[in-house]
Amino acid sequence: MNISIIVAMDEDGYIGLGNGLPWKLSSDLSRFKRLTEGDGFNAVIMGRKTWDSLPQSFQPLPERLNIVMSRDTGWHHDEAENALYPGRAIEIAYADGCEECWIIGGSQIYEMFLEQVSEIHLTTVHTSGSGDTKFPEWSRENWVEEEVEYTEIDENNEFRTTYSIWKRK
Ligand SMILES: NC(=O)c1ccc[n+]([C@@H]2O[C@H](COP(=O)([O-])OP(=O)(O)OC[C@H]3O[C@@H](n4cnc5c(N)ncnc54)[C@H](OP(=O)(O)O)[C@@H]3O)[C@@H](O)[C@H]2O)c1
Repeated sequence: MNISIIVAMDEDGYIGLGNGLPWKLSSDLSRFKRLTEGDGFNAVIMGRKTWDSLPQSFQPLPERLNIVMSRDTGWHHDEAENALYPGRAIEIAYADGCEECWIIGGSQIYEMFLEQVSEIHLTTVHTSGSGDTKFPEWSRENWVEEEVEYTEIDENNEFRTTYSIWKRK
């Protein structure tokens, strides 16, 4: 089972604002859906705050096993799994036969899994100072970037973006 991070961040590393996303980027949301759903059955692992930030109609994110990390043993949702520690989240995905496991944030959850993943699917949003929550410290010199796609500004995408896949050296 592959375990990868998927994240959008601005040029300063900001990923969130007021427990939401700082930008309106339809192209990025479409790619997120396509990649995390994949061809088979995949898992998404997220923090409880990121879960809270999803619109109710996207709790859970459809067609994927939703694993929510919380230290609250009372956290419950009929259509999501609760994991109290990182190893438990991976165990749940593995036991359910998931092909791929996507770490979808936020900051606390990226930090926990950064050392375990071999790929980071990164959308760089070409702006700065967007938010109040940053991606954790990340030593890019240990990683190789493959740029995949550029998206220009239009009515559904308020900033230019670059999508790249970073692989651990
Ligand atoms: N740009 C992007 O790609 C992207 C992606 C995802 C999210 N975001 C943004 O990121 C922000 C949220 O990030 P965040 O860092 O504040 O919150 P988060 O990582 O989504 O969730 C934090 C919560 O995870 C749980 N948790 C943390 N460490 C844990 C551990 N070791 N074991 C078990 N549970 C643990 C705790 O839940 P309890 O308090 O319930 O114990 C904690 O409050 C939002 O603005 C969101 O929109 C951006």
